[in-house]
Amino acid sequence: MNTTGAAATIPNPREGALNFDPGEPGPTLTVTGVTVAYDGRPVLRDVTVTARPGQILAVTGPSGAGKTTLLSTMAGLIRPERGAVRLGEQLLRSRDQAVRLGVVIVPQDNGLAPILTASENIQVALIANKVAPGETRRRAAEAPERVGLAEQANQLVEELSGGQQQRTALARGLALQGCVLLADEVTSELDAQNRERVLQLLRAEADRGAAVVFATHDPEAAAACDSELHLSDGTATLLR
Ligand SMILES: Nc1ncnc2c1ncn2[C@@H]1O[C@H](COP(=O)(O)OP(=O)(O)OP(=O)(O)O)[C@@H](O)[C@H]1O
Ligand SMILES: [Mg+2]
Repeated sequence: MNTTGAAATIPNPREGALNFDPGEPGPTLTVTGVTVAYDGRPVLRDVTVTARPGQILAVTGPSGAGKTTLLSTMAGLIRPERGAVRLGEQLLRSRDQAVRLGVVIVPQDNGLAPILTASENIQVALIANKVAPGETRRRAAEAPERVGLAEQANQLVEELSGGQQQRTALARGLALQGCVLLADEVTSELDAQNRERVLQLLRAEADRGAAVVFATHDPEAAAACDSELHLSDGTATLLR
């Protein structure tokens, strides 16, 4: 968090944007006793877990176990019935607040605008986060390269393959440079080589100082993470 007087005198190309100074470790995301129900049916039951800066937490479990629900709650998209999500000391109350604090989510359905290009999708997200124009151009050029899509950057999303769309969504999430990255099944449509590339990018994001949470069905991908929370019928067990 940028709280020092000295840092305030340095021009910040991300002024007004994500509240995270890459020079400092990011805050810890803490989920405490969270219960979420849809139509009165509990989907998460009393879940407690911590996502630490510099680390990747895998969230595993069968389809329908509640992985997306947990990441959505961590993102401020869902208000839990009981319990709390905190970023550092701050209680998360809404998605708007979470965005301001730098909580980035790469949704399972990608959430891309199909009639914009890959690059435009990234630029729109950066502009919405008040990233300065020059920095927006720089990151929108760099992010597709990082996911191996330099040649597809100016292609419409609706013309991209499923795996290319998935990598575009990740590129957009990485370009935002948040303090928390919530990556929901970001390798599910990828071949082995691209899966490895994405795992390396998640590691790089953690090394940058972000707390990374990665929902996955893939045991090998989970094994590459620092810790693993397993969900079964909404009940969480920290496996390691
Ligand atoms: N908006 C909603 N309204 C009602 N029920 C929902 C809603 N979203 C999810 N559910 C239900 O909550 C449960 C958990 O869903 P969730 O999407 O979190 O699972 P998941 O672990 O991410 O599954 P997958 O591996 O298939 O992505 C499922 O039974 C699902 O049907
Ligand atoms: Mg899911």
